[in-house]
Amino acid sequence: MWRTSYRAFTTGKKPLPRLSRTLASSAKQFPRRSLGAVFVAGLGAALVCRQQLSSESPALPKRIVPVDEFVKHNRPDDCWVAIRGQVYDMTEFLPQHPGGQSPIIRYSGHDATELFEQLHPKGTIEKNLPKDKHLGQLDGPAPTLEVAEDEFEEERLENVANMPNVNEVMNLHDFEYIAKKILPKGAWAYYSSGADDEVSMRENHYAYQRIYFRPRVLVDVSKVDTSTTLLGTPTSVPFYVSATALAKLGHPDGECSIARGAGKEGVIQMISTLASNSLEEIAAARVPGATQWFQLYVNEDRNVAFEMVKKAERLGIKAIFVTVDAPSLGNREKDARVKFEGESDVQKSNEVVRSQGASRALSSFIDTRLTWDDVIKIKQSTKLPVLIKGVQRLEDVVRAVDDGFDGVVLSNHGGRQLDTAPPPVELLAEVVPELRRRNKLRPDFEIFIDGGVRRGTDILKALALGGQNVRVGVGLGRPFLYANSAYGENGVRKAIQLLKDELEMDMRLLGVRNLRELDETFVDTRRLIGRDAPDELYNQLYSPLKTVKFRNE
Ligand code: LAC
Repeated sequence: MWRTSYRAFTTGKKPLPRLSRTLASSAKQFPRRSLGAVFVAGLGAALVCRQQLSSESPALPKRIVPVDEFVKHNRPDDCWVAIRGQVYDMTEFLPQHPGGQSPIIRYSGHDATELFEQLHPKGTIEKNLPKDKHLGQLDGPAPTLEVAEDEFEEERLENVANMPNVNEVMNLHDFEYIAKKILPKGAWAYYSSGADDEVSMRENHYAYQRIYFRPRVLVDVSKVDTSTTLLGTPTSVPFYVSATALAKLGHPDGECSIARGAGKEGVIQMISTLASNSLEEIAAARVPGATQWFQLYVNEDRNVAFEMVKKAERLGIKAIFVTVDAPSLGNREKDARVKFEGESDVQKSNEVVRSQGASRALSSFIDTRLTWDDVIKIKQSTKLPVLIKGVQRLEDVVRAVDDGFDGVVLSNHGGRQLDTAPPPVELLAEVVPELRRRNKLRPDFEIFIDGGVRRGTDILKALALGGQNVRVGVGLGRPFLYANSAYGENGVRKAIQLLKDELEMDMRLLGVRNLRELDETFVDTRRLIGRDAPDELYNQLYSPLKTVKFRNE
């Protein structure tokens, strides 16, 4: 049913009234009600439940399970779920489910395929559930969860049926607008939210607008070239698709359509540890000759991390980016609020614990003890370039240079982690001159930057700040998620083409023919340091002072 709904997504055809109703109940089941808790399950599958690998029991002959019998196992102490027509006994697994028990319990005695597949890469069950908990195959379709319809869904599906043609999209903001109107509430909240008051999230973007250009005139710009190399790989543009989790929440092809779209446009894709497709699937979707990088969350069990790096090598991935800014999940309140909507029992203690459990679960996958020494060991374990993603101060950039890393990503995780962490472009403007002054610039040390990038001009500004001595690559995460959610591979391609067109036009107007010509003389950063993002919640609550009153007031 989910796939059907996506046909509606991509063709923009209005679904028939009956179908529309089916879609409404199907598409809103999971994302609106249980995204937050279940999201962490994806992590668990990928990262955490390794201890269970060793406890797998020998395979037993599978039987045909009558649906009548299946539906009776619908309680926490007797909890069966159906996935792709197969019946699994989850009762003993419940306490170990990193996303909490309630999402699984909610689906007991029901079909959980759609929800499960959005969040868990292929092979998750086989890896994590003892074999004897696979009870057999259902003799018919399992019941799906009944979900009350609401106005939002009606409107959303109407929007899905009336989506603009991809050719009408003029810029990345359009993709964001469309995604906001067509994504299920939970998916939109998860993708779009930032930490706390979302100051960093907004400043990431505003900071680019505090930089002005110093264009050069009377240059022959009849030919401009946007190509460059990043980490030794030729690329058609100086930007790449940054790692983002759970692309299947927005599109059933998940990260695979991003791989195809990026690859066909000669753009590098960074793949998230928390992708909803498996690394194998995404690597298989790679276009011949295209480049993929891997973003690594380091697991408490270091062997898991080392195994992931080896797997990435085997699959032809070209670089490892170790994320270091997320020892636990940031406080994303938009996301958290949506999780609780429609949960009538939210005040019950187990539900409260569930929400806390979600972030605790994250912390338990991603190692809070991670230090420089650990990342150095990861570097020593592979011939691939290893970069540190999520560096947020000059001192740590210097350390990465000194420790022999191949580069850093100046990033505050799209403003999703520590609020009021600095906008990366501000940091870049500080870091490059300082590395030069300290004689720390190495030709093989590249600096990447992500967060808030929406225009070709943003990209050129970052490159100019790198000057002649530092190769800078620019990552975009959310915009590609939005483009992919709305139009799949075609959306990703369109987003890249739009940005490339903008780059070419901007280079002409700036008087540069190729990216090597860019340097600090092309930007005016005198007003860069500043703060523009208002604190909306604080301002909403503030009662303005009153002036003196006239007698007739
Ligand atoms: C996030 C993590 C999963 O930002 O990277 O949601």
